[in-house]
Amino acid sequence: MTNLIAAAPPVRDIQQTRDVGHLPVEPRTAGEDLADTIRVGVVGVGEQTANHLLPALLTMPELRITALVDPLRERRDALATRIGVLSGFDSVAQLLAEGEVDAIVAACPPQAHEQIAAAAIAARVPVFVEKPPATTTATLVELADAAAESGVVTGVGMNFRWAAPVRRIHALLDSGAYGHPTVITIRHVASKPRTPMWGLSLLRSFLLAQAIHPVDLLLQLAGGPVIDTHVTRQVGSTGTMVGLQLGFASGIVGSLICGSQATRFESRIEITTSSGATMCLTRLGELTVTGGLVPPEIGDPRGWSQSWRPSPLDVGFDRTGFGAELVAFSRAAATGADFSPGLADLLPTYRILDRIEER
Ligand SMILES: NC(=O)c1ccc[n+]([C@@H]2O[C@H](COP(=O)([O-])OP(=O)(O)OC[C@H]3O[C@@H](n4cnc5c(N)ncnc54)[C@H](O)[C@@H]3O)[C@@H](O)[C@H]2O)c1
Repeated sequence: MTNLIAAAPPVRDIQQTRDVGHLPVEPRTAGEDLADTIRVGVVGVGEQTANHLLPALLTMPELRITALVDPLRERRDALATRIGVLSGFDSVAQLLAEGEVDAIVAACPPQAHEQIAAAAIAARVPVFVEKPPATTTATLVELADAAAESGVVTGVGMNFRWAAPVRRIHALLDSGAYGHPTVITIRHVASKPRTPMWGLSLLRSFLLAQAIHPVDLLLQLAGGPVIDTHVTRQVGSTGTMVGLQLGFASGIVGSLICGSQATRFESRIEITTSSGATMCLTRLGELTVTGGLVPPEIGDPRGWSQSWRPSPLDVGFDRTGFGAELVAFSRAAATGADFSPGLADLLPTYRILDRIEER
């Protein structure tokens, strides 16, 4: 066992590559002029903004937070004072009327995301909303169509796609050294939600708050259309549990267990490839690859595995994906380049969530 997967470039290099798997990231060139910083309005100053998005945004020299928006003035002003932002607004409509921003980053309830995205698209301002971007697929279709028509860059906060170890998996698969995925298994269990959120049913709350992450990741890792769906589920007083089996047109079999019955968050992603290798990522931390590339001096490849794990000191936003997704979005907002996932990219995920709900 070694601590390094030689075939995978360091994650910093991955970020600087134009096309890593399904994650297009604009390259940064040395000496690139960052003088034209983009002005960002942050909308919704609750836990997600305070704990994850703002700390990541504040490390990014290419943008400046020019305004905070939240109808809860006391909370908004307290945060504005802490980070030195001068402008505060009660609503996105006021922010857009003032014209103080080049892009919007929002973390609010989904009903607010719908309104914020619609207003930003109408004003032709790039907009990033946390998941879930909408309560229903029909609304998401409307928003995606409006964005496509106006050519506005949109983004949805699906940080698992951007987590450093997930990008490392893409890099390993794209290297061609391990064949292609044949079976993808995800176990994603958490302790919430156990009560309804956002005025939605408990099942819809669970799907939009929790299951959206692993369903989206499964679709992204497999790529291509789903041709077969099998759902099992339990919704009870101790939480919700969903079992999902997906058959993809590519032949890949996807399997997911997602629940809110656990005592804490646990995540395990396992990919078996056509070369017989297995990639296993636990807790978005340790990635172990068994089989595949074996140094010739090892001889018999049986029992050989390689692993990568972050430094115990790495508690940063790159590992969780919150940093990388916002860097990529802000660059897309500045240049008009594509960002993924945008609103339209979430439609396949929403359709699977609907299948789970309809079952
Ligand atoms: N990607 C992730 O892993 C992750 C993790 C946690 C939360 N989230 C998402 O982040 C979002 C926010 O979650 P939270 O825990 O911060 O919620 P929160 O309740 O702590 O904060 C939401 C804030 O939005 C404000 N708000 C509501 N409507 C508004 C509007 N129309 N305009 C401006 N502000 C408005 C509220 O006043 C509140 O301050 C949710 O959509 C949640 O799903 C994502």
